[in-house]
Amino acid sequence: MKLAPSTNKHLRTSSLAVLALVATSVPGLSGSELVTFSEHVAPIIFKNCSTCHRPGQGAPFPLTNFEEVRKRGKFIVEVTTDRYMPPWHAATGGPPFKDERRLTDDQILTLSQWVESGMAEGDPEKVPALPDFPEGWLLGKPDMVIEMTEAYDVPADGPDIYRNFVVSLDLPEDKWLKAIDFKPSAPSVVHHSLFFIDETGDARKRDAEEDTPGFRRMPQRLERGGFIGGWALGANALMLPDGMADKLPKNADFVFSTHFHPSGKPEQEKSVAALYFSNAPPTRPYSKLQLPPLFGAVAAIDIPAGEKRYSKTDYFEVPVDVHAFAIGAHAHYLGKEMTMMATLPGGTSLQLLRVDDWDFAWQEQYAYKEFVLLPKGTRIDAEIVWDNSDENPRNPSHPPKRTKWGLESTDEMGSVTVALSAVEKADSEALETAISEHRRESALRTFLANADKSEEGRGWMQRARAMFDRDQNGKFDPEERKAIREFLKGMGL
Ligand code: HEC
Repeated sequence: MKLAPSTNKHLRTSSLAVLALVATSVPGLSGSELVTFSEHVAPIIFKNCSTCHRPGQGAPFPLTNFEEVRKRGKFIVEVTTDRYMPPWHAATGGPPFKDERRLTDDQILTLSQWVESGMAEGDPEKVPALPDFPEGWLLGKPDMVIEMTEAYDVPADGPDIYRNFVVSLDLPEDKWLKAIDFKPSAPSVVHHSLFFIDETGDARKRDAEEDTPGFRRMPQRLERGGFIGGWALGANALMLPDGMADKLPKNADFVFSTHFHPSGKPEQEKSVAALYFSNAPPTRPYSKLQLPPLFGAVAAIDIPAGEKRYSKTDYFEVPVDVHAFAIGAHAHYLGKEMTMMATLPGGTSLQLLRVDDWDFAWQEQYAYKEFVLLPKGTRIDAEIVWDNSDENPRNPSHPPKRTKWGLESTDEMGSVTVALSAVEKADSEALETAISEHRRESALRTFLANADKSEEGRGWMQRARAMFDRDQNGKFDPEERKAIREFLKGMGL
């Protein structure tokens, strides 16, 4: 969990206007009954807010008793009325998610009536007990906790920093990973951390070559093969469903690949991660489908300054019956809307994810309550919309600047990722193959469609012509395209 700069303040609608419209009694209560903290408010706050708003968690102040809640009563009404809190960016309308953090209209009404009527405490005897929160990690006691061996100094200012830190695990035997949770020690400067499993020893070597903790460039072998997950602002770690796990080989090192965004104040980062293991090897493989692939790296994102709705789409046809079980989206400050829709073979459409007002500070991952069946032949469509106008309060540039795909927070990315598992175990390989082919085809399509439009693209295109246009006719014929595909495959796409 992470304290994020709250750019959302400007976005709030006036909650007073909303309050003026609400009725004056709590549904289910007789008109004269007073709304009290003990009986009506505490159950809502303890269940929906205190998980994060308690000591040791990421939220900026506790909400665990009458005094703490009373002190911020008005503010609580404001942030709940415009649904800024609890943080939850997935729209309703699709299959339900697990642990949905969403207040009902009635609950919001109760909170505002309590504040309007003077915030009575009521009978302190009637306050429910706080839920039994897991100490420390939200997923409970980890099987193993790992920590960066040395702290890394993040300067007060300067450009964003990408740095990799290796931790040797020294596992006595292979393990099966169910979940990884992460805590930065300096949350104000850690934008995200990606996790890699290194069996090659390359990461250790690189680490030994540099004096300051960690190393700068991720070895390519590792970048292509070892990615196992990650953490970003506002992410919540998810446990893989029963029967699923990722292999953690006994000789492996763990690598944090961390993106720092200096905050104006020097900080020291010493990240900690919690690992959760399964007792038994997995019985169900799974794959991740990302549309557009590689966080949009091959989607030729190039957003003109001032453009209010710039969008990219991509789609994938499901080759075998699959279950979708988790989903998440990623973009930077200009990201606005992300949608993933499934069109089932019969024509029925199903909203897998819709985010209407993307907030860079909250990169939630959503797990479906039940597996969502997507039969063979289902078409999955994704659309990402960016707002690069001056009206976007999260736009880091005023006046807006032309923005392309890139690693810095002020560059853009954009994609939706859904986790899929073949219904028949025997189909898992076909699913994985189709996903990697889709990735390669997207890269090829974009490459051919856009390469000579941009300046660096023209450079690429010249190199590509020199490499692949064997007959020098200025076009890529099927044989030459095949060679490009092979080349992209070799590049890890
Ligand atoms: C998943 C964790 C989480 C939950 C659940 C949560 N909060 Fe928060 N809350 C945060 C974090 C982190 C911040 C600070 C970042 C921010 O302001 O965006 C915050 C900020 C706030 C703020 C200050 C907002 C501002 O603009 O400074 C208020 C008020 C608040 N929360 C109230 C609530 C209430 C009321 C609930 C329950 C209905 C709730 N929160 C549920 C994590 C959470």
